[in-house]
Amino acid sequence: MNATDPLHLLLSRCSVGTRQLQEPAPTDEELHRMVQAALRAPDHAGLVPYRFHAIRGSARDALADLFEQAALDAGKDATQATRDRDRALGAPLLLAVVARIDQGHPVAGVHEQWMAVGGAVTNLLNAVHALGYAGKMLSGSKVRAGPVVAAFCGPGETLVGWVVLGTTTHPGRRKFDKPAPQQVLVSWDGC
Ligand SMILES: Cc1cc2nc3c(=O)[nH]c(=O)nc-3n(C[C@H](O)[C@H](O)[C@H](O)COP(=O)(O)O)c2cc1C
Repeated sequence: MNATDPLHLLLSRCSVGTRQLQEPAPTDEELHRMVQAALRAPDHAGLVPYRFHAIRGSARDALADLFEQAALDAGKDATQATRDRDRALGAPLLLAVVARIDQGHPVAGVHEQWMAVGGAVTNLLNAVHALGYAGKMLSGSKVRAGPVVAAFCGPGETLVGWVVLGTTTHPGRRKFDKPAPQQVLVSWDGC
């Protein structure tokens, strides 16, 4: 891959999970720039149907308590609950992603608003990569656990998951092979 290619950053981004992330995390200023990039995503009717909650430092302990409780409530044993607890503590910075979908908007349909959420997260992850950091979008069953949801969401909102962020020494590794462009790009020549 050629670093002078204008698409180099987009084509070289790989998700990097919690276990491969460490300090330093993006600063508040860098995080603001990443969110600016997120806000550049296509958004029909300009609804901005999402919000990010930044969780760093000791706030991760409170999140770990919630993850542990969610695991115990779901019937997991103590070992699994400790493992879930650690998911909040591995990365130096987490962003809880909350979606606020207007089910009856007269202009932007529900699927369009979800696209805006996905576009924002994608832009954010690309900005993370462009600024020399790494991260990954994660969810899991805890996004539906009552106390976890209540900590971030108001009525009608959805907890999408977490973007974990930090610095990595591991080169990103593709989890899935990407299809060749011609598998998803086809010509339509009319009926
Ligand atoms: C909304 C959403 C939730 C996800 N949740 C998880 C998850 O809980 N665990 C996981 O391993 N990957 C999850 N993924 C997939 C990863 O974020 C990532 O896209 C995938 O591993 C492919 O890696 P790549 O981004 O390098 O292509 C999720 C993706 C999205 C969009």
